Amino acid sequence: MARCSRREFIHSTVAAAAAGGALGAGISADALAAAAQTAQPRGAGTGAGGPVVISSANGLRATKKAMGIMLAGGDPLDAVIAGVNIVEEDPTDHSVGYGGLPNEDGVVELDSCVMHGPTHRAGAVAALRNIKTPSRVAKVVLERTDHVLLVGEGALRFARAHGFEEVNLLTDEARKIWLKWKERHSDRDDWIPPAEVVDDDDRADAGGDVEYTYGTINCCAINGAGELAGVTTTSGLSYKIPGRVGDSPIIGAGLYVDNDVGAAGSTGRGESVIQICGAHTVVEAMRHGMTPEAACLYALEMIAAKTHEKRLLDEKGRPKFDVKFYALARDGRHGGAAIWSRAKYAVFSEGRNRHEPCAFLFERSLKT
Ligand code: GLY
Repeated sequence: MARCSRREFIHSTVAAAAAGGALGAGISADALAAAAQTAQPRGAGTGAGGPVVISSANGLRATKKAMGIMLAGGDPLDAVIAGVNIVEEDPTDHSVGYGGLPNEDGVVELDSCVMHGPTHRAGAVAALRNIKTPSRVAKVVLERTDHVLLVGEGALRFARAHGFEEVNLLTDEARKIWLKWKERHSDRDDWIPPAEVVDDDDRADAGGDVEYTYGTINCCAINGAGELAGVTTTSGLSYKIPGRVGDSPIIGAGLYVDNDVGAAGSTGRGESVIQICGAHTVVEAMRHGMTPEAACLYALEMIAAKTHEKRLLDEKGRPKFDVKFYALARDGRHGGAAIWSRAKYAVFSEGRNRHEPCAFLFERSLKT
């Protein structure tokens, strides 16, 4: 009798259960992910290919969901999209989807792209209003058009045509945060903060404790058959100029997948990522032999070296902003890196769903 490893046994059992309709009989994707926590031997993510899922730090629920779907036989692109949908639909995450912080007019505009390794196809939407899950619309762009990127009104009409429900994406909580920004960001307009905070300090303050975000979720996965996929989705820079598009919906910037090499994605200051074709740069660095972590650091060093505007640099010439890259190699190795220390990324591999530390270029001062 041929030998069958414990991992192979679990995979074939899961596949058989999925094929036999057991999923419909009540085995949830989450339960399968939980089973995987005991099923996979250590080392599965460090040289033996998939299944591995990685994400930005806000994606622990996404990695768990995606792993469950892949173990049930689902396509890795469907898996990562279902994973990030959790965060897109979560009103408490102010950097992604529903509940995201709006543009300067108080309107939420979402960006997302998806890429499927085996077919090398991609889809994206930018400045999309009123739809909670732009990543799903991006997937329909991939599947049902001959295009890669739809923006603004055209993207919304396309989503409507495909039956996506329109909702007001601006939650009351996000509206209040925006209003605080609106009332405080200048003392030369006619917007006045509530009486209790009107004093010279507040009005001179460029924002005080107003929340700002470039936050985003990126999620990349590889299944046991070596098929890669990725997604990036965001509400983008808070209080942006209407129509501003960051890196997240730009294939090669916020996401890139090459099934022969690996996948990479980014979060943080999108303009800087676009200017170095970030995710593509990371994947190309892996193609030339760098580890995922080294490839992420290489792209971040490029950002640091190419940032020349004084307003973006501190007194030591370091970027004042942050960018993070996440990378997943075809062999299952993974890594993340940030400009500034103390960042993490989420990973589900080797039977465990957890945060791992990101490498970094510069140590954050202990005061910040
Ligand atoms: N990385 C997200 C953005 O810049 O919009």
